[in-house]
Amino acid sequence: MKKDFLSVLDLTKEEIIETFKIAIDMKADRKKYAKALEGEALALIFEKPSLRTRTSFDIGIQQLGGYSLYLSPNEISLGKRESVHDVAKNLERMVQGIMIRTFGHNIVEDMAKYARIPIINGLTDYSHPCQAMADFLTIYEKRNGDLKGMKLVYVGDGNNVAHSLMDAGAKLGVNVTVNCPRGFEPNLIAYNDAVEAAKATGAKIEVVHCPKEAVKNADVVYTDVWASMGQEEEAAARKKIFMQYQVNDDLMAIANKDAYFMHCLPAHRGDEVTDSVIDSPQSIVFDEAENRLHVQKAIMYQLMKK
Ligand code: CP
Ligand code: NVA
Repeated sequence: MKKDFLSVLDLTKEEIIETFKIAIDMKADRKKYAKALEGEALALIFEKPSLRTRTSFDIGIQQLGGYSLYLSPNEISLGKRESVHDVAKNLERMVQGIMIRTFGHNIVEDMAKYARIPIINGLTDYSHPCQAMADFLTIYEKRNGDLKGMKLVYVGDGNNVAHSLMDAGAKLGVNVTVNCPRGFEPNLIAYNDAVEAAKATGAKIEVVHCPKEAVKNADVVYTDVWASMGQEEEAAARKKIFMQYQVNDDLMAIANKDAYFMHCLPAHRGDEVTDSVIDSPQSIVFDEAENRLHVQKAIMYQLMKK
């Protein structure tokens, strides 16, 4: 049966670690996998902008011997020019996998339901599982595979990235604290799903509203933009509310001395993070970005290999 990648919760802990190991192998020896998906085509549907996701999937499939087809926001107008069902039924005749970045999470779920080929979630309003996989691969590498007892504190908006980080932490046994202003908590279903998944690993998943104290004992301080794609008109109002949640030198001084700073990027420097933090030796943001390529190659390989 075909498999999709819509959520980190779709994977077992063992499958996540196996994906990391494949990604690390691919990173160490790119040529070894040059024909792994020879001749296979991946459609890239983007209804929102992208630098990292576009580049990493486009280059990633080519490094595996396949090729990609970029479908821009205006090109297919999912659900407007043609139904999600009909787009899925057409594309499955011509390509072997679909990566999709869109607004409503239900669009990605519908696409997975209708298409006989693997669907990969490249970000929805609800989640960003490829990002969380790259982030935890990065932590896994930095800590030589030792994730036990560690604490990741996400500071900012309880958004798609926060949801997927909670999922990955829950699965891997990493404690995840989401520290956000009141009214900007993660979606309750996303939180409950992560808490449920965490029962198997003992990870503590919590949501708090204390800009400073939450990062005490943090091994990782993570942030994201305050207004996500599609929320641009709220940016000014959000800035006033979120300013006290800015990740700056004072905040990093409260976390563990050797804590990593992480951000999915793009960053709004001077808003959610200062230059001094994102450009500091503690910052591993470009390692995360690079690992999008490696971990997604491992995901495509597992879903699309014959
Ligand atoms: N982090 C991330 O998904 O970046 P893009 O929006 O540039 O793809
Ligand atoms: N939360 C951000 C993540 C971008 C990669 C957004 O959805 O715009």
